[in-house]
Amino acid sequence: MQNWQKETVLYQIYPKSFCDSDGDGIGDIRGIISKVPYLKSLGINAVWLSPCYPSPNDDNGYDISDYRGIAPEYGTLDDFKELLDLLHRSGIRLLLDLVVNHTSDEHEWFRESRKSRDNPYRDYYIWRDPVDGHEPNGWRAGFGGSAWEFDEQTGQYYLHLYSRKQPDLNWDNPKVREEIADMINYWLDMGVDGFRCDVINSISKDFTAEWPGMGPHLHEYLHELHVKALGPHGALTIGETWGLTPAQALLMTSEERGELTTTFQFEHLLLGRVGGDKFKKCDVDRKEFMDILAKWQYGLKDEGWPVLVMENHDQPRALSRFGDARFPYESATMLATLLYGLRGIAVIFEGQELGLENPVFKKLSDYRDIETLNAYREMEKDYDPETLLEMMNFGSRDNSRVGMPWNGGKHAGFTSGTPWIDFGFDPERTVEAEEKAERSVLKFYREFLALRQNDNVLLYGGFELLKNDGDTMVYRRSKDGDSRYIAVRFSDAPAPLPQEVPLNAECIICNYSDVTDTLRPFEARIYKA
Ligand code: GLC
Repeated sequence: MQNWQKETVLYQIYPKSFCDSDGDGIGDIRGIISKVPYLKSLGINAVWLSPCYPSPNDDNGYDISDYRGIAPEYGTLDDFKELLDLLHRSGIRLLLDLVVNHTSDEHEWFRESRKSRDNPYRDYYIWRDPVDGHEPNGWRAGFGGSAWEFDEQTGQYYLHLYSRKQPDLNWDNPKVREEIADMINYWLDMGVDGFRCDVINSISKDFTAEWPGMGPHLHEYLHELHVKALGPHGALTIGETWGLTPAQALLMTSEERGELTTTFQFEHLLLGRVGGDKFKKCDVDRKEFMDILAKWQYGLKDEGWPVLVMENHDQPRALSRFGDARFPYESATMLATLLYGLRGIAVIFEGQELGLENPVFKKLSDYRDIETLNAYREMEKDYDPETLLEMMNFGSRDNSRVGMPWNGGKHAGFTSGTPWIDFGFDPERTVEAEEKAERSVLKFYREFLALRQNDNVLLYGGFELLKNDGDTMVYRRSKDGDSRYIAVRFSDAPAPLPQEVPLNAECIICNYSDVTDTLRPFEARIYKA
């Protein structure tokens, strides 16, 4: 892995919600172009752009109908090239979203595939005969219902692990793999620096399993992409891989094997949910939160490189889940220190740097997300409408998908038109307000990132967990005899500064204005010794 890859601070942009330049209520590429100075000012050095390809938007762009184009609502290919060039001139790399487990059902390949059983594109997708007049097996789709859809015209079912408008590609077909490698080369040749790889551990299916992910040819297919496209370009690839163990992650990312550069780990994001159900809230086990982070720091040893994440377009705001609304500044900055004090690629989702909380949706019709709408319908019989709305407000993906609050103007300066999704915002928590405020989450992120990116111990040092009682956490990062101690209070009550921090250590960043011998609610400090 190259050093620039290890030092990546990746800012995720959800194009639909970032900045609208033409007043149609939908964010666009020219809007992003206008915010490059802001991105630069944050101290990030890479952008991950969620899908901006043509799409019927059944799943907000994760249903792609043309892998080589730009969605007209986002702009043109020339706009995209201008953005890429401007980012590069600003020292910022660009990662695209690689969504190749499935296409849209409106992709030309699928339109052909469904025409007849002997169409040349038939085997681009996964078709099966009915079994006793029913679905070939009991697999459920990610957004509810069966994962099989019957197609009248040819009398077979096709597989879709997500919505029925997202048919799964048949990776066992060498032509499909060839097409994907060509498409990857098309973007890399244009200058793109890498990809975030959507549900990539599902591309090879295990037809004997209860859930088809991590099939028998996964490693082989990833290696093939590496050899034909990713490797020669030195691309940075980050796999979206739910449910992996550290050992499996190491297999997918070891340098000799040549597959992906790194993978996300999301295990800590399952906490605070009853049985992992994203709509059912329970208390977060803070001790476990830290233990999971530590497990991955230790588990990837010196061979792997972690990816540090707490928010994205599929997750509600971290502050609403793990923070404390009575201490928004303190808990947002504590969470940032706790997470990004660790070794790994730091990933920040748009608006996280402002300490945003979930917006409040007042009615079902305010939601746009297919997962939320389907879940609501499926649960309608079991809950009263008020409880349901509360559950959606807690878990919906739309919580992070509303417009970015730039200023206190109409629609927070996101659009001059009518936003594609309605949202309220806190005028104190906009980019403009936080730039003016004496103390803000935004200012803390800038200060902390500047410190981190210029500190070889924070970037490269080893990890050791020294204390974790669920309220106070201390860990050490060290390199060549130089150490940093990260000490945080993950609680609304104060406690004495833990003795794991050496007496002679010097505090180099703190989210309170003075340094005392007590850790106050959600206080976070980094010491040098
Ligand atoms: C990934 C994406 C999510 C999408 C799904 C299907 O999990 O992050 O937004 O709905 O894949 O493409």
